[in-house]
Amino acid sequence: MANVTITVNGRSVSRQVEDRTLLVHLLRDHLGLTGTHVGCDTSQCGACVVHMDGVAVKSCTVLAAAASGSEVLTIEGLATGSELHPVQAAFREHHGLQCGFCTPGMIMSAVDMIRRHDGQLDEKTVRHELEGNLCRCTGYHNIVKAILAAAEEMRGGMQQAAE
Ligand code: FES
Ligand code: FES
Repeated sequence: MANVTITVNGRSVSRQVEDRTLLVHLLRDHLGLTGTHVGCDTSQCGACVVHMDGVAVKSCTVLAAAASGSEVLTIEGLATGSELHPVQAAFREHHGLQCGFCTPGMIMSAVDMIRRHDGQLDEKTVRHELEGNLCRCTGYHNIVKAILAAAEEMRGGMQQAAE
């Protein structure tokens, strides 16, 4: 067994889990954060993407024990109170989802992507960056549109913060 202490969405939590427990199962089964989804068992779909110490990771590829001591952000922690994160708002505005199964992972990947590129994204880059996230419903078009719109909106804030 492993003692795991992590900060999830700003709250420190400790749990004792089996050594083989994956971060995604710690989040879902032990902490009740079921917004992070499991869509495959081959590390391909990206439905399980969360941020660990500010970087997007597929939480089905990380042992919970290995995440001990880290800061994890899940889709549940992205909004500020009742105000959606700009990427969440853009997905809603641009119909970037249908069944919604891939959406939490898509959004967490998109937030990371926009941050890494300082909001400077074009369609080709977004499509390339999304290779690790699968969607079976939308055909990706509106997802790409939503990410580009959010990137444009967030770019202003990033520039202001850098000045
Ligand atoms: S559940 Fe993690 S990549 Fe599919
Ligand atoms: S919206 Fe259904 S899998 Fe993406």
